[in-house]
Amino acid sequence: MKTRKSSSTSENQRSSGSAPGKIILLGEHAVVYGRPAIAVPVSDVRAHATVAPGRRGAGIVIHALDIGRHYLLDAAPPTDPIACVVREVLARCNIHQHLDLDITITSDIPIASGMGSGAAVATAVVRALSQALTCPLDAAAISDIVYQSETLLHGTPSGIDNTVIAYERPIWFVRGTPPTPFHVGGTFHLLIADTGVPSPTRLTVGDVRAGWERDPERYETLFDAIGELVHAARTALQSGDAPHLGRLMQRNHTLLREMGVSAEVNDRLVEAALEAGAYGAKLSGGGRGGNVIALVAEETRDAVAHALETAGAVRLLSTTLTPEAVNP
Ligand code: PMV
Repeated sequence: MKTRKSSSTSENQRSSGSAPGKIILLGEHAVVYGRPAIAVPVSDVRAHATVAPGRRGAGIVIHALDIGRHYLLDAAPPTDPIACVVREVLARCNIHQHLDLDITITSDIPIASGMGSGAAVATAVVRALSQALTCPLDAAAISDIVYQSETLLHGTPSGIDNTVIAYERPIWFVRGTPPTPFHVGGTFHLLIADTGVPSPTRLTVGDVRAGWERDPERYETLFDAIGELVHAARTALQSGDAPHLGRLMQRNHTLLREMGVSAEVNDRLVEAALEAGAYGAKLSGGGRGGNVIALVAEETRDAVAHALETAGAVRLLSTTLTPEAVNP
């Protein structure tokens, strides 16, 4: 299978790849404990990579333009997530000879806000490089490679980020089982509000782990309740029932609060969205900052966006799931 969203021009031997951001609609945290979660790609923001022939003898040079870093693959430590995926692609494509390549990366996905910027950058690099090496990789292989870089960033990620970004489809995700892309049966308008507080996923995941070790029964009950909501949410997405999906998101937020991963800023934005007429709103991702997502009708979108900004959102993105846009 050919990689998607990639192009190469033989005239200048330049290959490019890109990858979307993502949000988790429902099921975060419980997904680490084997319950299902639903995530969707956000194509309005993307990471981009290009691979071009480099200076003779220079080796593979990575140019991370957004952070002003230029470094040699050979000098990068094993903990560097981009070097990790580059090395993995070279190994899988059986490339053992010296190569002179410039890999250039840019991204407009907000960093550290639960939108999967790290996984998207890694996916864009894998797509561009596999294209340059004429070594097509399918979505499952790309996801697998990117997961390895995610473990460097997050410790023990469930794998949901690399999966939804590599497949670029709404994903039903259960840890340890093959992901199931599924169809969306209606139009869903989402606002993604950045709280401006960096989301320390590793910390909240660690705190949930500590809580679960202290009181497994209580946490298992919370995870089960979230799992049930996620099942109902899939039906709502497939049947195009936005009001019902909104109620389920709302209940999911309440359960995440009980789990201790919300913060005053998340609750404030959720409350503001609801008061302005959103169908539902919740934190998305690790929590204690990061993003709040609100499901809205087209008619309430502007009012909810205004309410979120007034309540302190530092950046707003708007994205729409439609059967055409997300069901290739
Ligand atoms: O903060 P994000 O969007 O990367 O999401 C983290 C999701 C968790 O369920 C909290 C952790 C995980 O690895 O799935």
